[in-house]
Amino acid sequence: MKTITLYNGVQVPQLGLGVFKAAQGEETEDAVKWALEAGYRHIDTAAVYGNERSVGKAVRESGIPREDVFITAKVWNSDIRAGRAEDAFFRTLDNLQTDYVDLYLLHWPVEGKEYAWSQLEDLYVQKRIRAIGVSNFHPQHLEELMEQARIKPMVDQLESHPLMNNQELIDYLQANEIAVGAWSPLGGPQLPLLQHPVLLELAEKYHRTPAQIVLRWDIQRNIFVIPKSTHRERIISNSEIFDFELAEEDMERIRSLDRNFRVGPDPDNFNF
Ligand code: A2P
Repeated sequence: MKTITLYNGVQVPQLGLGVFKAAQGEETEDAVKWALEAGYRHIDTAAVYGNERSVGKAVRESGIPREDVFITAKVWNSDIRAGRAEDAFFRTLDNLQTDYVDLYLLHWPVEGKEYAWSQLEDLYVQKRIRAIGVSNFHPQHLEELMEQARIKPMVDQLESHPLMNNQELIDYLQANEIAVGAWSPLGGPQLPLLQHPVLLELAEKYHRTPAQIVLRWDIQRNIFVIPKSTHRERIISNSEIFDFELAEEDMERIRSLDRNFRVGPDPDNFNF
């Protein structure tokens, strides 16, 4: 598995399984189990997904040593606003039944993010978290955070797929040594992205699925990517992206599909 090295030296497996909207219980447990069997070593969850217990259970039951699985978790907005990021973190540890998290993120840039960040910094210094970061932060949110921060975020996780590639933001983050993760890399459940004629054409050219083409494009953009699926065949096929390479002109073709078309909330204008 290829990795992205964060500025503190921690390595993030470039492919992770996303479990947003996977139900607590069998659905999440099976998805995580199938992913680990297929070679994934990175699982991305969040308090608000309500499935941390199932993620923890599946990782434990896999028999794979804890230190070989990279677990990302996120503190939810209500806890950030209420100044309870530390409590939220220990609740997450209890749900996951583990004693550390690999990557812990502020889920959205809400009021109280600066204090929440200071709590994450303390937990990082105490080695309860191997890397700390943010999600859905634009440059101005990062600047606000950095006015008081002691430690620069190591990661920003954001929406990115061919119709909303967010490349300008990604370039900014990478220039500042902040690693980037893409959520909804396949455009989420609603968007018919995987039927786009250009992706179908490239799928035929490389003898791959459109999803594999998109995920490979992400790998070659040097970001990590967390496609969600609860179907075994898709989980497996989404992982088969490390044995081929897209030509530069095809990278560019996918890049040119950008329409600034969001499938998720806008970090500059959301109400939750
Ligand atoms: P499912 O869980 O039913 O497989 P995202 O872009 O947010 O990661 O979402 C991916 C969406 O696309 C999910 O709804 C998932 O649904 C579906 N999906 C995941 N992998 C594939 C694939 N290889 N082909 C088609 N659909 C996929």
